[in-house]
Amino acid sequence: MKRQWWQKEIVYQIYPKSFYDSNGDGVGDIKGITQKLKYLSELGITMLWICPIYKSPMDDNGYDISDYFNLAPEFGTMKDLDELIEKAKEYGIKIILDLVINHTSDEHEWFKEAIDNPNSKYHDYYIFKDEKEVPNNWRSVFGGSVWEKVNGRDEYYFHTFGKKQPDLNWENEELRNNLYEMVNYWLEKGIAGFRIDAITFIKKDLTFKSLESDGVDGLIKCTKTSRNQPGIEVFLHELKSKTFNKHNCVTVAEAPGVSYEELDDFIGENGYFSMIFDFKYADLDIASGSEWFKRIPWTVKDLREKIMTSQMNIQKFGWGANFIENHDQPRSTSKYLLEQENNKDAVKMLGAMYFLLRGTPFIYQGQELGMTNFERKSIHEFNDISSIDQYYRSIQEGFTEEEALRIINLRSRDNSRTPLPWNSTQYGGFSTVKPWLGMIDNYKEINAESQVGKKDGIFEFYKNMIDFRQNSIYSECLIYGDIKPIDTKNDEIIAYTRQNDNEIIYCYFNFSQHNVFESLNIKGKEVIFNNLKDADVRDEGIMLKPNQALIITIKNKGEV
Ligand code: NOJ
Ligand code: CA
Repeated sequence: MKRQWWQKEIVYQIYPKSFYDSNGDGVGDIKGITQKLKYLSELGITMLWICPIYKSPMDDNGYDISDYFNLAPEFGTMKDLDELIEKAKEYGIKIILDLVINHTSDEHEWFKEAIDNPNSKYHDYYIFKDEKEVPNNWRSVFGGSVWEKVNGRDEYYFHTFGKKQPDLNWENEELRNNLYEMVNYWLEKGIAGFRIDAITFIKKDLTFKSLESDGVDGLIKCTKTSRNQPGIEVFLHELKSKTFNKHNCVTVAEAPGVSYEELDDFIGENGYFSMIFDFKYADLDIASGSEWFKRIPWTVKDLREKIMTSQMNIQKFGWGANFIENHDQPRSTSKYLLEQENNKDAVKMLGAMYFLLRGTPFIYQGQELGMTNFERKSIHEFNDISSIDQYYRSIQEGFTEEEALRIINLRSRDNSRTPLPWNSTQYGGFSTVKPWLGMIDNYKEINAESQVGKKDGIFEFYKNMIDFRQNSIYSECLIYGDIKPIDTKNDEIIAYTRQNDNEIIYCYFNFSQHNVFESLNIKGKEVIFNNLKDADVRDEGIMLKPNQALIITIKNKGEV
């Protein structure tokens, strides 16, 4: 593919509520990000994705926007944001914001007007149905019907996510133009681009027909009828040509439901976006992103196959956004390493495995410290609306309360939303008062201060790995080189090569707790990156130690 500036970035995702509280109100804020730029720059990242900071009642922590042009006062002012953009620039760090245009908050002026004054033009900015009964049996992503009754009227409005997140009616041209104006406003302000929320939901099946139910609640997942529907291409094409195309910006779309066959349309040379997140491997432990209680057993072999299938398909058409964590996912340590979640070698190995794939790496706050999941003892300790819904839904589907709690703990979005521990003092130095969400129990051991500058820590490992990708003699191949799976005979190994015309790099990752031999009968093997101290490289192959990540190149183009 034609080279693009964003291929060389390392993105760090910030969940602003939980990053750093600069003014002692228990909630992270924009000034808090500015104050920690030095830390971020030391790590070596080049771009920040900041989750929504716009004005919002925070029912879904900012993914319910009530004003696209103003910021949530608890996060700060526009001046604070300008200052962040400017200071970040001094560190060579770009900023992308979250773009949430499938829905607004029900407290947005447009929605309030639509409700108060059904004859106003704003009524058609949303999806309403005049009916006495619930219009159909579609289930929203956060539970219950997608339809919510309007108080005092025989009328319902549509919401893909929570009740306080009414969907915008993309069929309305004026609404679309309003959104495009807003997108251009932010791009002109000097941000580098957007992470785009839930964008494949903007087109609905306009028949709004009920379908056969898939649960005991009599409902059916709305993903079948409101996600990536025919006709969406018209909207996505228009969005791109009226906004992104006018700027040299990066766009990373959350686009669930896109098949590999459709990747060309989404990320090909003339695709709608620069890259999209692929959830097919991230959701390997559950039946679907909206049904965590349907857990799926998986093996390292399954993970390998899913990741490699994803990589090979993306490579055909464009570029990927690689991640193992985000604010909707559990911590990668607990999810992918299971009982090895506290094993530093394993955490580093997992980090290198995804980081050296072909694509732009995304690091979620705290991942660089090896943070783990947080086990909650009661449903009342959860903040995330989706966790609460999944808990009651699983009980409705026949699970006991204990089972439901166990399942929710494994997957809850609150796992990654616990405040970031900066040191081992009270509240982990995140805030001077009790934070909006409880600190994780192990913050006295796992925090930034205990790791920065400490040779064996996860932070230093990530820092070296970033440097290896960005600034070493192997950068050209590690960033732009092709990827190809290595046909390993061992089920607990993930292995691939990165290659260009001049060099080849072999990458091996041992997920097991025992030594594993991989044959590689090539002369001139040279270890260029290793998460352990030693490497057992032999003429005919390599003996990988438990949890070892070994990256090897061939000196002088070795002969077989
Ligand atoms: C996806 C976001 O990542 C998630 O946090 C949010 O709840 C939904 N979209 C709805 O905006
Ligand atoms: Ca604050």
